[in-house]
Amino acid sequence: MKNLVLSLTVLLSLCACAFAQDITLPAPDKKGGKPLMQALNERKSVREFTADNLTQQQLSDLLWAACGVNRPDKRRTAPSAMNNQEIDVYVAMQSGLYLYDAGAHVLKLVKNKDVRRYTGTQSFVNNAAVNLVYVANMGRTGIREGAKINDADLFMSYSDAAFIAQNVYLYCASANLGCIVRGAISKESLATELGLKSNHVILLAQTVGGMRR
Ligand SMILES: Cc1cc2nc3c(=O)[nH]c(=O)nc-3n(C[C@H](O)[C@H](O)[C@H](O)COP(=O)(O)O)c2cc1C
Repeated sequence: MKNLVLSLTVLLSLCACAFAQDITLPAPDKKGGKPLMQALNERKSVREFTADNLTQQQLSDLLWAACGVNRPDKRRTAPSAMNNQEIDVYVAMQSGLYLYDAGAHVLKLVKNKDVRRYTGTQSFVNNAAVNLVYVANMGRTGIREGAKINDADLFMSYSDAAFIAQNVYLYCASANLGCIVRGAISKESLATELGLKSNHVILLAQTVGGMRR
């Protein structure tokens, strides 16, 4: 009996993975949260996470806080140099890999695979609920596929990604979630997992999940 239950559980999780699809996020809760000064006081990096998944509401609030649309002209919660909006936010979760479509507030499924372990070199990335990966889509700044990309070209993009990361830190402080921004990434293998083009550059990653007390 125990074996049957175990097999059914494995089968059900395999099915859940096989049928992963786009996630239409609920509307973000723009009224909730702690006062800004309290969130700033509680902002910190943590490196221990529970394996609990985020609720859809938490995912929605997290991504909207990161770089969601906050004005009718489609500008965002984070500033963007020359309003290029070149930072793509990939979302790696147990259920699969997604790309955040801020305009539609939807997580578009990129692939049915748990790629969390590729998003960093530290073991906590394997099981934390969410790993965000900030990728500069340099095509939006006029750099074509195959062209050489210099550090100077990326300067603004690193800044843009950092603003998003700080928004995420503040949301996490407000929502009592754990969070850490990371530069320690094996970029080549991650780029392959994300299916990136030559003019897409991984800048930073950020882990979000339940905080161990
Ligand atoms: C650009 C950047 C990259 C970072 N990369 C890593 C990293 O790869 N791994 C890590 O454990 N912490 C990383 N951190 C987190 C810092 O170690 C952390 O912010 C610092 O120790 C201060 O702690 P606090 O964030 O709690 O104030 C990074 C921070 C920044 C700003």
